[in-house]
Parts: sequence; structure tokens; C-alpha cells
Amino acid sequence: MPQTIGIPKETYAGEKRVATAPDIVEKLIKLGFSVTVESGAGEGASFFDEAFTNAGAKVVSGTDVWASSDIIFKVRAPDLSEVAKLKEGTTLISFIWPAQNPDLMTALAARKITVLAMDAVPRLLSRAQKMDALTSTASISGYRAVIEAANAFGRYFNGQITAAGKVLPAKVFVAGAGVAGLAAIGTSVALGAIVRANDTRAEVADQVKSMGAEFVKVEYEEEGSGGGGYAKVMSEGFQQAQREMYAKQAKDVDIIITTALIPGKPAPKLITAAMVASMKPGSVIVDMAGEQGGNCELTEPGKAVVKHGVTIIGYTDLPSRLAKQSSTMYATNLLRLTEELCKTKDGQIFVNMDDDAIRGFTVIKDGAVTWPAPPLKLPAPPAPKAVAAPVVVKEKSAFSKLVSALTMPIFAAALFALIGLYAPPAFIGHFTVFVLAVFVGYMVVWNVTPALHTPLMSVTNAISSIITIGALIQIAPQVAPGTARPDELIRWIAIVGIALTSINMFGGFAVTRRMLMMFRK
Ligand code: NAI
Repeated sequence: MPQTIGIPKETYAGEKRVATAPDIVEKLIKLGFSVTVESGAGEGASFFDEAFTNAGAKVVSGTDVWASSDIIFKVRAPDLSEVAKLKEGTTLISFIWPAQNPDLMTALAARKITVLAMDAVPRLLSRAQKMDALTSTASISGYRAVIEAANAFGRYFNGQITAAGKVLPAKVFVAGAGVAGLAAIGTSVALGAIVRANDTRAEVADQVKSMGAEFVKVEYEEEGSGGGGYAKVMSEGFQQAQREMYAKQAKDVDIIITTALIPGKPAPKLITAAMVASMKPGSVIVDMAGEQGGNCELTEPGKAVVKHGVTIIGYTDLPSRLAKQSSTMYATNLLRLTEELCKTKDGQIFVNMDDDAIRGFTVIKDGAVTWPAPPLKLPAPPAPKAVAAPVVVKEKSAFSKLVSALTMPIFAAALFALIGLYAPPAFIGHFTVFVLAVFVGYMVVWNVTPALHTPLMSVTNAISSIITIGALIQIAPQVAPGTARPDELIRWIAIVGIALTSINMFGGFAVTRRMLMMFRK
């Protein structure tokens, strides 16, 4: 008899997500399960009952879902009234946050439920990454935080030069560059803003730079890694130095996005009321740590408020504001988890407590609390490779070194001597200038960043208009004694030449300027 997976409608106020999607239902059925979905469960995420029915699910009432399911998929932790609806022995797979919800844990254990908490997936196990709903949720939140900021901000993110004037790019500062922070950086960079970020973990600096942002360091030597990729509470000295740096950034930037969290601790207060007051009017703060108390002193969790002329957004439902995307990604995480639980593809799950990945997030097994899981036995880092015996390279003799060093110059000198002997004197002069020009050109171009080669071409185009000087000599009214006055035709050709090269010259400089503006931040 196949087990039934039930998906009830989320009841948390304003929650639009749903724990599965029609495409995923088809795949769950292929694994041998039957699927029931509460009528209207997917509406907030634009998945309608008909789509679920077409995918093979049974669309039923809420009461039927809770009463008939062997496995319940949920997004938000159930409330106590939902726990009462669970039939004994059910497996519940949902966000739970056991540390924050002890009463819920007691109620679930009392009903002899098996609970797999999506917030406790052992993220550092590479096998568990496909089930890592925290990461998929955080990256959506980071993206949405920037969209909310852009919505509240009264200007473009990217710099522009328009007929109606020049627009400077917005400056964004991201505090805390974990999964959500990096997603916020990527989105802000893509929108064209100048992005800076800070984190207490030193390893993050390279990740920030690779996303196209600048890492702003706190001038205080202290490593912020608390193990497992998470941060620790920093010393008072560090916090003071960090506040000074943040105060400077607050005055300079237009948008601050904060995502700084320390597991099991209240969110560090990084943005003080004084920093908010120092920001330019119209600036925006998106505080993604609202649910853990907020990174900004003036955040009101769940709300957008304006204080000191700065919009402070403390929404705690950012993933739900992108409900279709969040539901699809979460549903995929749950599908991957179901595949792990049902390797035999016969519609029966097996919660294998000997499997590190599954043990890690099984917080209640048949009514017995099994949280927290014992620390993971991660494979030891590979031992440093034995240093290979140095390859003995036979040292060249001093004489052969001298010969190889002199071969090229001797060859070049012989070539020039040959040219000098047979070429006309005028050619030698031009040839010398040519060789020097090639050398100078080579040195100039190779010292310019490749990204700037296009503006370099347009500026050299402008400089090439130096031929104007030749034309100016031709139309000069005075000529040196003893030289012939240029005839009228040559003068007119020179005048036309000056007109044309002027376009090239002024146009070249104007285009270069515009191109450089695109790089200037
Ligand atoms: P998180 O949400 O707990 O914290 C967000 C960020 O805030 C972290 O980068 C943290 O260092 C930073 N932070 C904490 N206190 C701060 C302070 N006072 N000032 C500035 N920044 C502060 O962390 P999240 O995003 O859930 O993950 C953190 C890290 O975990 C990732 O960057 C990654 O290294 C690791 N991770 C690894 C995974 C894997 O190996 N598959 C999967 C997910 C995460």
C-alpha cells in the first residue's frame, strides 16, 4: 500500500508559499507515493487546484489532508492546533526551529510523530546540499531584499548619462555576506550599483570580490569564524572598530542591506539610530535579520517605517513575496529529500538514523526527541601531498648563458647595420621613429587594463589627429625664407583636412570620455 504525502494550506498570516508544485507532484507519484493537496493550498504561489489534479494529485479538504496523510509536507512550523490534527505515527517534514520552539517540540513528541526539520539539514555535507532549503530560501530573500530596496529608493541603481542630466550610480552596503548577503550583492551589482560589503569571517572577502563588490575590512585583527561556516560573537574592541567603519559607510551609501546572524544568538546590532540619522534623506535600509531582533536599532520587524527620512524595511516574509519561486525551490528540496528516504522507489519512506545526512535533521523519531544531532564526522581534510623530490636541472655554464643572452641583440644589430648600409638616409630617420613608436605603443597598451582597451582605441584615434599639425603648416601664411609658398590647391586640401581631422579629434575625445564614465564609480 503506497504511503500518502499530504500538503495542507499554510495558515501563518500572509504566508503564500506551498510545500509542493505540480511538476514535483508528478515526480513524487513516480516514486510510488499518492499525493493529496488541500484545495487552494497553492493559490498564493499561482499553482491552482486544476494543475495539481492534472499532475495526478487528489485535491481534498484540509481536514482530509491532515486525517489521511502518512507524511505531511509543510513550509512553516505547524501551530499547536495543527499538531492536534496530525494522526499518530505521521512523518512531518517542515521548518521547525527546535531551539526556538520547545513547546512545539513537546507537543509533536507527545503525538508520536517523526519530525524532519528542514532548518537542521547538515549543510556542510555535500550529499545534503540538494536538500538545503535554508540556502535556497536565503538566496531568494537576498534577491528580494534588493528589489524591496529598489522599490523604496527614489533613484536608479545604475549610473546613466541622459539628455536630462547625469545620474550617479546608487551605493549599496551589505552587512553580513552569507548566502543571503551574497545573493543581495549579486542582484545589486546586476542592477548597476556600486556595492560594498563586510563580514566578520575573513574567508568571505574573496567571495565578495568575486561577485563584483568591494570588501570593506574592519581595522581590527580578529577572526570571526565560529566553525561550520557560521560567525561568532566578536570582542568589544572589534565591535567598536566595526561601528566606526559602519558609521562612515552609513554617511556615504544610499542603501544598506543587513543579513548578519550568529546561530542561536540575537542578531548583532550593527546599525545604530545615530547612523540612521546620518544617512542621506531618501536612503533605504533593508534589515533581513528582523525575525532575530534586527541588525538595525530602529527596525520594526514585519514593517516598513520611515525614520529620520530613511525607509527601514524589516519584512520577515521576503521568501513568501516571491512565492512561486520559493515554493518551486522548496518543493525540489523536499523531492530530493524524499528520494533519499525512499531509495527503493516503492512509495514507502525509511528514516535511516545511521545515515549522517538524515540523522542530522531528524529532530523527533517516533515520539522521541533526537535533537540536537551529534556533531558530524566530516572527512578529515586531505593530508598535504608529500613534497616531490626536486627535479635536478643541470645548471647552464656561464658561457652558454652569455651566448643565449647576446644572440637576439647581435642579430638585431646586424639587421640594422645591413639596412643602414643599403637604405637611403631618409628611410633610416623614418625607420628609427617607427621602431621607437612601436616600442612606446607596446609599453602604453600593455600597461592598460584590458577592460579599458576600447576607450584606449578611441583616445588613440583622437591623438592620431596630430596630422592636423601637418595641415596647419601647409596653410601657414608665412613660409621660411627660401622655401616655396604652397600653391592654392594644397592650401585648400589642407583646410579640408583640418576640418575632417577636427571631427575625428574632438569626437574621439568625447567618445573616450563617455566610455570612461561607464567605468568611473
Ligand atoms: P547566517 O545567516 O547565519 O549569517 C549571515 C552572515 O552574517 C554570515 O556570513 C556571518 O559571518 C555574518 N555575520 C555574523 N555576525 C556578523 C557581524 N557582527 N558583522 C558582520 N557580519 C556578521 O549564515 P548563512 O548565510 O546561512 O551561511 C553562512 C555560511 O555558511 C555561508 O557563507 C557558507 O560559508 C556556509 N554554508 C555552506 C554551505 C555548504 O557548504 N553547502 C551551505 C550553506 C552555508
